[in-house]
Amino acid sequence: MATINGLERSYYCGDLRKKHVGEEVTLMGWVQRRRDHGGLIFADLRDRFGLVQVVFNPEESQEAFKKAEDLRKEYVIAITGEVIARPEGTINSDLATGEVEINVNELRVLDSAETPPLQISEECDAGEDLRLKYRYLDLRRSDMQENIVLRHNVKKAVRNYLDDYNFLEVETPMLTRSTPEGARDYLVPSRVNAGKFYALPQSPQLFKQLLMVSGMDRYYQIVRCFRDEDLRADRQPEFTQIDMEMSFVNEEDIISLVEGMMEEIFDTAGLEAPTEFQRMSYQEAMSRYGSDRPDLRFDLELVDISEVVKDAEFNVFSGTVASGGEVKGINAKGCASFSRKDMDELTDYVGIYGAKGLAWIALREDGISSPISKFLSDEELDNIIDKMDAKEGDLLLFVADKPKVVAAALGNLRQKLASRLDLIDQDEFNFVWITDFPLFDEAEGKLVSLHHPFTAPQDEDVDLLDDDPVKVKAKAYDLVLNGIEIGGGSIRIHNRDLQQKIFEILSLEEEEINDKFGFLLDAFEYGTPPHGGIAFGLDRLVMLLGGLETIRDVIAFPKTQNATCLLTEAPSKVEKSQLEELHLEIENLEIDID
Ligand code: AMO
Ligand code: AMP
Repeated sequence: MATINGLERSYYCGDLRKKHVGEEVTLMGWVQRRRDHGGLIFADLRDRFGLVQVVFNPEESQEAFKKAEDLRKEYVIAITGEVIARPEGTINSDLATGEVEINVNELRVLDSAETPPLQISEECDAGEDLRLKYRYLDLRRSDMQENIVLRHNVKKAVRNYLDDYNFLEVETPMLTRSTPEGARDYLVPSRVNAGKFYALPQSPQLFKQLLMVSGMDRYYQIVRCFRDEDLRADRQPEFTQIDMEMSFVNEEDIISLVEGMMEEIFDTAGLEAPTEFQRMSYQEAMSRYGSDRPDLRFDLELVDISEVVKDAEFNVFSGTVASGGEVKGINAKGCASFSRKDMDELTDYVGIYGAKGLAWIALREDGISSPISKFLSDEELDNIIDKMDAKEGDLLLFVADKPKVVAAALGNLRQKLASRLDLIDQDEFNFVWITDFPLFDEAEGKLVSLHHPFTAPQDEDVDLLDDDPVKVKAKAYDLVLNGIEIGGGSIRIHNRDLQQKIFEILSLEEEEINDKFGFLLDAFEYGTPPHGGIAFGLDRLVMLLGGLETIRDVIAFPKTQNATCLLTEAPSKVEKSQLEELHLEIENLEIDID
């Protein structure tokens, strides 16, 4: 290992065990803490590989002992000394190196340190803003280091696996044109082409398809993507995809290749390989779980009671069914004793998703309690109870609305109840492929792609494109892990005419099609293999493997919810001269520029 100030690092701190007793070693690292003890000074020395106790004994070296008196937390030091077995009774079984310590005979202080503004230990209780501002210190903590190591290992497993299957890693441009993945673009003004802008890629979608036209056969890239969208715990403005594309394949080829990759990743992460990858159609997922990324670690299924209540006196129910809506419910088992306050809270919660109310029926010991039971006949009540498999002690919760609102409200309520009732086994990894997505979604009276416009329609639905496009299903598949979409992909359109037709269904004008995608359509003229692919959110995958709550914990330098970097203070103002060079002027004078 490296020689610093004449000392040669011989081991990492975490390496040392009983078998090293008697060896003279040189270690380098940070002082975790120092304790003075009746004429001896103890310090915990830390590097990426662990922690070891070092002892300064004036009888061993008066000089090292004197210098050790000045050591403070986070000083960077090099020590040389003999590995000795810790005396009986002082063995620390919580520490991998806990059976030994180093009797120091030489100490070099390589750098001093200010008192850190946050505690460099697992039990750090600093707020996230402070951790992000001093991210370089936060990253010294062992749990953050473990996350970064896990991320590295996942990438390594992916590379090894895909290499074995003849994939080529190819880099695609960062300064490019807009790729339609449904978010806003980050734009970069061009200095040499006045008034023109590059877009940072939302994904390498177009380039990976062009690489298939180029005959690369199998491509992958661990690649940064940029999306200017509202941020959440599992969304960052720049994030990393494991992006793949293959020629001459169908959905099953891609799915089975990916399942093998997941097994390899789990193995590398030291986790038991997944035993099952379930499959579910989009239609079934929406109907039973109100979500296209259902968390199947718990039940709480949505039950459709529209048929039962279509003639009910309770107009909220019958009126909704009459106008083409639906009434669905969840049986919150054992929750009949929820208070009025609980109910108000749940009603407010479903309101976030557009529900106009939350009707409920509680099956209490002393009978039914419900604000709506008086508007339901005994038969209707019995049928509801029967349909929802309700027993005494259960609480039935209902939303009546358009199917989209019902799904969003109850799908989210389902998740909230599961957390509150502690129904989720945190150690379980539950995979499900969602298939048979609709090709289009309706938004503000227009059709938009549910995935992206390059997704191929299912063969038997191609004829519906002209007359009933909303019914067309896509050759698309998403992989969902524990209720989080970790990846999505599709078989692509590889025919110019069909691609052109899809753009037209999406109401793109001829000029816009040529301007934005002319190069892709042109490429399709020169012999395009059938192809398809998928992309995984690396950050989300690592977060789930590490049992973490946010992708910020697996990204070395993440952004806040406001898309800012607290460490570098990006985004920042720029010099007026820079704006001029870029042919830009800031119009809003309230924005103060230097
Ligand atoms: P998609 O848009 O589904 O597909 O993205 C693929 C995966 O990337 C992850 N992801 C994100 N992770 C963190 N922060 C974000 N803002 C973010 N946005 C997406 C998700 C998602 O499943 N080109 C297509 C793939 C293809 O068709 O091959 C694409 O980008 O885990
Ligand atoms: P109201 O008749 O508005 O007092 O509502 C009676 C009960 O029905 C209340 O518990 C409301 O929360 C509930 N409710 C109102 N609208 C809906 C709806 N669209 N879906 C489900 N429950 C509703």
